[in-house]
Amino acid sequence: MDNSSIIKGLGSDWTAVKDLLRDVLASDVRLLDDINTSLLSNSGKMLRPILTLYVARACNQSRICDESLRSAAAVELLHNATLLHDDVADEAATRRGSPTVYSQFGPVPAVLIGDFWLARAVGLLVDSPDLKWLVKEFSGTLTDLAEGEMLQQQKAFSSDTTIEDYLRIIYCKTASLFVTACESGARSVNASDGMMKAAGDYGRALGMAFQIRDDILDYAGGESTGKPSGLDLWEQKITLPLLGALKNSDKEGEIRKMINSIHDHPEYCGRVRQFVLDGGGVEYAQKCLAEYIKEARQSLEAFPPSFDREVLAYIADMNSFREK
Ligand code: IPE
Ligand code: IPE
Ligand code: MG
Ligand code: MG
Repeated sequence: MDNSSIIKGLGSDWTAVKDLLRDVLASDVRLLDDINTSLLSNSGKMLRPILTLYVARACNQSRICDESLRSAAAVELLHNATLLHDDVADEAATRRGSPTVYSQFGPVPAVLIGDFWLARAVGLLVDSPDLKWLVKEFSGTLTDLAEGEMLQQQKAFSSDTTIEDYLRIIYCKTASLFVTACESGARSVNASDGMMKAAGDYGRALGMAFQIRDDILDYAGGESTGKPSGLDLWEQKITLPLLGALKNSDKEGEIRKMINSIHDHPEYCGRVRQFVLDGGGVEYAQKCLAEYIKEARQSLEAFPPSFDREVLAYIADMNSFREK
């Protein structure tokens, strides 16, 4: 299985989601429309809408409907809005192998375009008969996202992130939206309570694994990520590879102090990175990630066997080796 067969498996549902995204992002403000068109043409993995659709199918193949498609498009809009904002927060130069909106046009367009995508996500959901549930779900995730990013900022100032802090941060900034992607797929086909729970459990475990892999790639990834590496350390984010290396070290105080003053000493970046690589930090994070993948796969047992369930299992497995 590979990415293109995953997309192919979705058939006309996938085209319908892409059409929805194109339609809701259209604007007669030329600058906005041009940037939206260019973002859509270099769209990344689109993993979250893929999850919405496959979870919906795994729950109830015959009931995929407009609700499923609209939720799929809405989670992708929300995801991109957070990336547009995240690249401002991280002062990131590249994403998906291209210059970020932030680096090309500055922070103001990046924030405003993020707001536009967010507003269009709400616009997509507004006519849904399940509006109350959707508003609660999406606003819950947006709250998590903002709190997760703020806790990350707070911890960047104090350099005292613990493993518990880290897990809360990645749940809020990443896994919560995976939960919404999966639960909204299940909900759109009137899944049973048991399947709704399984969808949420799968989304949570998968989202945790996904962010841990992203954090590993920030230390050990290559060009294929399409975004800068080493940025987490520079932004004073203490992520799992670093926490893993600290676990077996008697240099914890010294390393945390170095991170705290990294902007006055850019040369510390290379030293701390080497400490992580030599101290088995990547292997430690990879082991934790494997546990989440196992959890995600176990959750899938609540769904009847199908091609769709196999795809979801493969998407979980992919996190142990993906390079982008
Ligand atoms: C990037 O997400 C942000 C994280 C949660 C790590 P993706 O890796 O899914 O980004 P795109 O949409 O494929 O570029
Ligand atoms: C995930 O964290 C960001 C969001 C959920 C918005 P990162 O800051 O690690 O994401 P990348 O690496 O920039 O994609
Ligand atoms: Mg970032
Ligand atoms: Mg990252």
